[in-house]
Amino acid sequence: MTLESATAEVTTRVCPNGPVLVRGADAVRDEDGTLHPATRPVVAVCACAKSQRMPWCDGTHKVVRRG
Ligand code: FES
Repeated sequence: MTLESATAEVTTRVCPNGPVLVRGADAVRDEDGTLHPATRPVVAVCACAKSQRMPWCDGTHKVVRRG
């Protein structure tokens, strides 16, 4: 995951057993190089790799166990 921003400072916060909250990014680039525009000031990026809306968290981490 790569975070992209033209101007604002980008900050992240890892939620234990949950997503990474990203503040201030214009977009997130996934491992395939696809750019996903961040449409809100704070976006939740999936860290469990189980989301059906990658790269965004869809709440699936609440029902899956991490190995
Ligand atoms: S971290 Fe929430 S679905 Fe993966």
